[in-house]
Amino acid sequence: MEEFHKVRRLPPYVFEQVNRLKASARAGGADIIDLGMGNPDLPTPTAIVDKLCEAVRDPRTHRYSTSRGIPGLRRAQANYYQRRFGVKLDPETQVVATLGSKEGFANMAQAITAPGDVILCPNPTYPIHAFGFIMSGGVIRSLDVVPDESFFAALERSVRHSIPKPLALILNYPSNPTSLVATLDFYKDVVAFAKKHDIIILSDLAYAEIYFDETPPPSVLEVPGAIDICVEFTSMSKTFSMPGWRMGFAVGNERLISALTRVKSYLDYGAFTPIQVAATAALNGDGDDIAEVRSIYKRRRDVLVESFGKAGWDVPPPPATMFAWAPIPEQFKHLGSLEFSKLLVEKADVAVAPGIGFGEHGDEHVRIALVENEHRIRQAARNIKRFFATAGNGGGDNVVSLTARR
Ligand SMILES: Cc1ncc(COP(=O)(O)O)c(C=O)c1O
Repeated sequence: MEEFHKVRRLPPYVFEQVNRLKASARAGGADIIDLGMGNPDLPTPTAIVDKLCEAVRDPRTHRYSTSRGIPGLRRAQANYYQRRFGVKLDPETQVVATLGSKEGFANMAQAITAPGDVILCPNPTYPIHAFGFIMSGGVIRSLDVVPDESFFAALERSVRHSIPKPLALILNYPSNPTSLVATLDFYKDVVAFAKKHDIIILSDLAYAEIYFDETPPPSVLEVPGAIDICVEFTSMSKTFSMPGWRMGFAVGNERLISALTRVKSYLDYGAFTPIQVAATAALNGDGDDIAEVRSIYKRRRDVLVESFGKAGWDVPPPPATMFAWAPIPEQFKHLGSLEFSKLLVEKADVAVAPGIGFGEHGDEHVRIALVENEHRIRQAARNIKRFFATAGNGGGDNVVSLTARR
């Protein structure tokens, strides 16, 4: 029987292949150090958990909630934007709560896309950026992710050669998987370009608070007039170590927010009210929890760069996010990122995410997530050092990939 139209457009999840290998190695007793998925390991701060428990005891919270988010939560998000970015938002019309930013992004795609609409999407990137639109009938045109002059040249070309003209441009800085960050000047130029060509900007700012340099990542909405064409998505998953809670936001242009809110009103009743209450408390907090999370990831990043470097693998220090985007060591490059990732599981008991899972232009890298503690990261480096030594200097040619051996 033929696959369904939509399912045919969703390739098998590349990461699943590494996950399967990981599971079978574990079943065989291996202690796999898992730096693969971007699944934060830190517990949600106690005060947020306490707030949830308090709210859940009130039976009034057990009813259906509101799809677009309770008013206090939307106000808290608007206040966060004012405090953090100096951006004024109307919580009634310019803010909607989402079931994690991934859901918000995918449903925004559904809300605005007509079959065949062209979407400009970074490559490599977090998969939902492309597949949210592909599932909605859109067509993806890939763009390089480096936010410099070359980006604008590619943007110009894309607009010139796309029929129909692109509907939307996706931005994701700090970037998953590359960790690249954008400046406000970059955003100013992109907004000017998008306004000139009547293109919507969807900015994914999931890593707004996970940064290690002095300057915090800006919001595209800081650009004067950006709200005419932009919506930005943020997430509580990384900022407050709340990945399983499924809480995020879309903010910005009223027409776009209204389209998303409308679609969501048909699909969901919003997050469980106690989660929304606890999320409100988190956003209204003093910021200490965020600073703590940031400093933990920073220490892990430093340990990763230092210990992997000593193991013979030079990993550029990421300026933000919870990921290092590591070039595959020269002697293993010919294997490609999937085979190299499989080898790391099999020979070094270390799981990473193959770059190819983020798009064709990711295949010379793997993504290493900072989701194990410093001790385990050091252990991963020791394992990798041993593996590199046994693989020899001869270019890894003596390494037979798992698939080849089957
Ligand atoms: C860039 C980016 N956007 C969105 C998400 C999804 O976040 P959420 O948990 O809010 O759905 C992630 C999660 O890894 C991400 O890396």
